[in-house]
Amino acid sequence: MTFRGPRARRQRVGAVLLLALGTFAPAGSTPGEGRGEAGAACEGAGLEPGRPATDLYCVELVPTDAAPSAAGTAELRPVPTPFGTAVTRDGEHVHAVRVTARGLPEPSSLGPYTAYVAWATTPVLHPVVKLGALGADGVAEGRVAFNKFLVLVTAEAAPDVEERAGRLVLRGQSASMLMQPHDLPFILAAAAAGGDSAGGHEHGHAAHGDAKAAGAPADGWIAPPMHPKVSMPEALMRFRPGVAPFLPSADPATLAEARPRQLIRLRDGDTLRLEAGLVRRTLRGRTLVMYGFNGQYPGPLIHVDQGTSIVVEFTNRLDLPTAVHWHGIRLDNRYDGVPHVTQDPVPPGGSFTYVVRFPDAGIYWYHPHHREDIQQDLGLYGNLLVRSPRPDYYGPAHREEVLMLDDLLLADEGLVPYGRDHATHALMGRFGNLLLVNGEPRYELDVKQGEVVRFFLTNVANTRTFNISFTGARMKVVASDVSRFEREEWVESVAIAPAERYVVDVRFEAPGTSVLENRIQSIDHLFGYFFPEVDTLGVVRVAEEPAVPDHGAAFSRLRAYREVSAEIEPYRRYFDAPVEKDLVLTLELGELPFPIGPLVRMDSLYFNPVEWSGTMPEMNWIATTREVKWVLREPATGRENMDIEWRFRVGDVVKIRLTNNRYAAHAMQHPIHIHGQRFLVLSVNGVPNENLVWKDTVLLPVGATAELLLELTNPGRWMLHCHVAEHLEAGMMMVFEVAESG
Ligand code: C2O
Ligand code: CU
Ligand code: CU
Repeated sequence: MTFRGPRARRQRVGAVLLLALGTFAPAGSTPGEGRGEAGAACEGAGLEPGRPATDLYCVELVPTDAAPSAAGTAELRPVPTPFGTAVTRDGEHVHAVRVTARGLPEPSSLGPYTAYVAWATTPVLHPVVKLGALGADGVAEGRVAFNKFLVLVTAEAAPDVEERAGRLVLRGQSASMLMQPHDLPFILAAAAAGGDSAGGHEHGHAAHGDAKAAGAPADGWIAPPMHPKVSMPEALMRFRPGVAPFLPSADPATLAEARPRQLIRLRDGDTLRLEAGLVRRTLRGRTLVMYGFNGQYPGPLIHVDQGTSIVVEFTNRLDLPTAVHWHGIRLDNRYDGVPHVTQDPVPPGGSFTYVVRFPDAGIYWYHPHHREDIQQDLGLYGNLLVRSPRPDYYGPAHREEVLMLDDLLLADEGLVPYGRDHATHALMGRFGNLLLVNGEPRYELDVKQGEVVRFFLTNVANTRTFNISFTGARMKVVASDVSRFEREEWVESVAIAPAERYVVDVRFEAPGTSVLENRIQSIDHLFGYFFPEVDTLGVVRVAEEPAVPDHGAAFSRLRAYREVSAEIEPYRRYFDAPVEKDLVLTLELGELPFPIGPLVRMDSLYFNPVEWSGTMPEMNWIATTREVKWVLREPATGRENMDIEWRFRVGDVVKIRLTNNRYAAHAMQHPIHIHGQRFLVLSVNGVPNENLVWKDTVLLPVGATAELLLELTNPGRWMLHCHVAEHLEAGMMMVFEVAESG
């Protein structure tokens, strides 16, 4: 006998349907799956909206001599997760693996074997994890969380063996195995040729090569420091962006040192005066000129009640035009704070009055919507905590902490300047090298033993996705952007993309110290390997004294939020509706400054689903929005970005499909944000989401596809854009119109 593959099975299903219903079901379609019916990674190739990237998410299995006519695939599918991507606490991506084999001989024909078993292992063949025994259909399913890995199928004595001992019949390797050291001599030779014409070799100070030809000023730039764990050839570090630098100019001695944020409690109809201005900050011993709201870092923490509204009298005391956007809040369109879309930019010295209403409980934030890459990065961000009237809205906790996660790019000489007229870091976004919690390099908290702390987390970084956890403490996720989840879930870490929010309850059970960490897997692109990075963001000191009352029992139960499910219920009938709007996320490259052109081209063999860190700060720095255009493309019309025309009516419920094009010259994850409305993430790579939550921002990993159900309740002209500040600056945005109903 031979094992039967999925195609044969489907044909059989099709034939049965044909007989039973008298209808024709084409081979290859899987009837009745509904949501996520779109093509799987192992069916087809190339960019097709709705299909995950084949080369990243489908491992081709190649036979050995033992079974030369066998073939197969290992499809990497998303693991259900409350976050945009499933990762371990250490930051390794977790994949559900579906191994499908066909053409295998009877195992006993190869020796003393009765079964085939699928395994995954690292390039050094240790450790080995069992994915599972192949069923009669030739399919095995399991999970893998290695950066680089091999998939093996072996003949074994029994399906339940725990260790690999039998003959290898099929094997394949993950796409990440394709990452190899770059052709360094070539790059170096080219770099030398490109750089010598300008003479001078001092790192970070001389203008060189094409960057200079493109019009770089002679000075004013401070180069980003090298990544501490990634060495770069000197020849690759002599370049600078071909645009003029910008830093707020003021004598720090004339500025007041910024103060930590203030908590402001506002009631219905109250007015807040909000001023954006220059502040002095001292970070890592350097005196910096930065921005702040009301002289604070972050901006004031605003506490309000759900259902109320406030008035914000805003004044711009910056040296740039600006406007304030109220992220995630379904307010009146004219107060949405988007220059040229909902208002004119507020010039330096000007003011604007916002009326902000709060229909939804949860954690929200405010930030400028003009040159975010500069203004938000320099400290213009603040949280709004919107309280539900229901005391049991969340489970019991001893206290609540509101944390804004950020990073800042700091060199010895001070802040790395921004591009004055065009953003730098246009490919990957501006990764910082100093991680900040509420604007400080070190967060501190004192709690009692057994204390349950509710953390409201907001990622305000330009591009960095965090993967944070507390050592020695249990954590459960309760809510995200615009609502609670249908059900709480235990999590080992929180993967949070720019602009996303998560609410987690954490119980500190053991006295001592619990460390707030960011744990990720970074890539050395030059040498093609992964390495772990662990950053300490803060410490929680846990006293011996027990917390009263003891919330231990309540904490150990996962609560189901039936009101959330009930509220979603009327939308379920749309879950299987056809996709109404398609967007492909992609990139158009102009003439890139040398030497990133050749580097980018060589890098494109593999992209991590999420790029967690910027390991080539000099290379990332010099591509600007003059050369790089990030694109939302509508395949049906061929339109891009601001040329896309979507028109809806209040009351519409629309299925939108996003596909992140992995075949672009440089691919990256994109946190896609929609203003003024809320949506559900129905599925990722065809795998339905079983624990729904209302969102305003969704992280789309490289080569992934997601289906969103967008509810349109709020009339006006609203933005849809990538929340990587530099991608937004590079054009990755569109506006859609929602007309009043009737
Ligand atoms: Cu956080 Cu367009 O916004
Ligand atoms: Cu927004
Ligand atoms: Cu993006």
